[in-house]
Order: sequence, then structure tokens, then C-alpha cells
Amino acid sequence: MSLTSYIRTIPDYPQKGVQFRDITTLLHHPAGLKSAIDQLVEHYRDKKIDRIAVIESRGFLLGAPLAYLMGTGLVLIRKKGKLPAATIGEDYDMEYGTSTIEVHTDAISPGDQILLIDDLIATGGTAEAAIKLIRKCGGEVVECAFLVDLPELGGNERLQKIGCPAFALCAFE
Ligand code: PRP
Ligand code: ADE
Repeated sequence: MSLTSYIRTIPDYPQKGVQFRDITTLLHHPAGLKSAIDQLVEHYRDKKIDRIAVIESRGFLLGAPLAYLMGTGLVLIRKKGKLPAATIGEDYDMEYGTSTIEVHTDAISPGDQILLIDDLIATGGTAEAAIKLIRKCGGEVVECAFLVDLPELGGNERLQKIGCPAFALCAFE
């Protein structure tokens, strides 16, 4: 069963014109959640990954079990003001707004091979900002992985332009 069939679509949320792809229905479903995590483990099993960076908040839900199963540490990329120690930040635009994400300056060591995880890529604004933060800390983004790609919003091409490969488990064309 394709993972898209576990994901519910809510029209006009959080604003008119947005087709919101709601992964809570996949998370409710043991087979959906297991399939998503198992597929990510399978894809990254043999790659050299030092740490998994996860984007607040839905990215945390996929990245934490993946890091546990792969035996790597986690790097939290959080919305502005949530991390307690010294941070660097990056502003960005996304499908339905603007925001700022931050990372602790000591969370990544130069040369670390980082896998970036989020639940979904739409315009790619959020992922691009996260990649910039990781690179500013000296980390190398091996790949970005998403549960869902929304190809018509061009996020994948945007990441290609900045030299970052992207992988998604499913797409809403
Ligand atoms: C959603 C999603 C991605 C981002 C993708 O996060 O989880 O992080 O939007 O959009 P983009 O490709 O256009 O940048 P959101 O900011 O809604 O936060 P949440 O995970 O806390 O719900
Ligand atoms: N984040 C950005 N665009 C989104 C969408 N259409 N559905 C769910 N999350 C999103």
C-alpha cells in the first residue's frame, strides 16, 4: 500500500488555497508508521551518517526513531527561541508563511556527515534554511529525506541547485 493512502488531505488549511497533507493519520496507523521508518532505515543502512538533523516539529517524529535504529545522535533544528544555549539562525519563507529556525552552535562538528530529516518538502524553503545552518557549522549534508514530496512546489529542484540530494518516500503529484 502506498504511503500516500495513509495521509489525509485537508483543503484550505492553514490558509485558503493550501492542500494540507496531514500525516497524523499515517502516525495513527501502526502499519503506516512502521513502513515509513523501515523504508528510511533500509535506504540509509549502508551510508556513513554521523548524526541525523531533524526539523521541528513533524521532522522530530520520523528522525528520532530513525536515529535510534541507526545508532546515530540527533541534532535538533528548532523554531526561534526554543533552544537554550548559543545558537545560529536562518530566516526563510515556506508554503504558508515565514519563520526562523535555529541550531545550537556546538551541535555539529566540522566534517560531520549529516542526514537531514523532515516530514514533508513543499517549496523547500525550510529544508534550504536547515542546510545553510548545517553548512555554517561545518557539517556536510549527505542527503535530505522526507516522507512526502509535493513536486509541483519545486522543493526538490531547489535543493538540487544548492547541491543537496533529496529523497522522498512518496509524493502527491
Ligand atoms: C511544515 C513541514 C516542513 C515545511 C515544509 O512545517 O513540516 O517543515 O512545512 O514547507 P516548505 O518546503 O514550503 O518550507 P511547519 O512550518 O508547518 O511546522 P510543523 O512541522 O511544526 O507543523
Ligand atoms: N508544509 C508546507 N506545505 C504543506 C502542505 N501542503 N501540507 C502539509 N505540510 C506542509
